[in-house]
Amino acid sequence: MSLLVIHPAAPGPADAPDPLRSADPAVITAELAARGIGFERWPARQALAAGADAAAVLAAYAPEIAQVQATGNYPTVDAIRLTPEHPDRQALRRKFLAEHIHSEDEVRFFVEGRGLFCLHLGDEVLQVLCEQNDFLRVPAGTRHWFDMGEAPRFTAIRFFDNPEGWVAQFSGDAIAERFPLLD
Ligand SMILES: [Fe+2]
Repeated sequence: MSLLVIHPAAPGPADAPDPLRSADPAVITAELAARGIGFERWPARQALAAGADAAAVLAAYAPEIAQVQATGNYPTVDAIRLTPEHPDRQALRRKFLAEHIHSEDEVRFFVEGRGLFCLHLGDEVLQVLCEQNDFLRVPAGTRHWFDMGEAPRFTAIRFFDNPEGWVAQFSGDAIAERFPLLD
């Protein structure tokens, strides 16, 4: 189940109120929209087999992809799959575990599995557990990190304006170490 948890970015007093925690898609959408982050639940394509290859994923979601691309943004789209058996899973996990930004939007649709997006917005950290059928759009320049877990398992459609430009610029802030990871 998708989940949003909002924490204060800085450690607060012990009697500080609990962070917001919601698994209600409407609440998640509204809280993220209020902060400029796009979140949608896309209906699942029942015909899509678990473990379908990238071409099958892109074909199954062609109408939704076309709708996103009709905005004129994100001309490039692909599908990525990570499994617990992936030989580079630890290096891939570490790559995005520290706070960073991109000069491009980070736009993902989760077809299978799950991943944890952590967004550092001013004095808040929003942890968004994305699961199957979740579409997330993080604007360029947003401080964030991502955890796929020790045993990653997800398939995601990725949208790009320019995939060559999608390079992480690390902030050097160790903030990510103070927040829970996926597992
Ligand atoms: Fe990123």
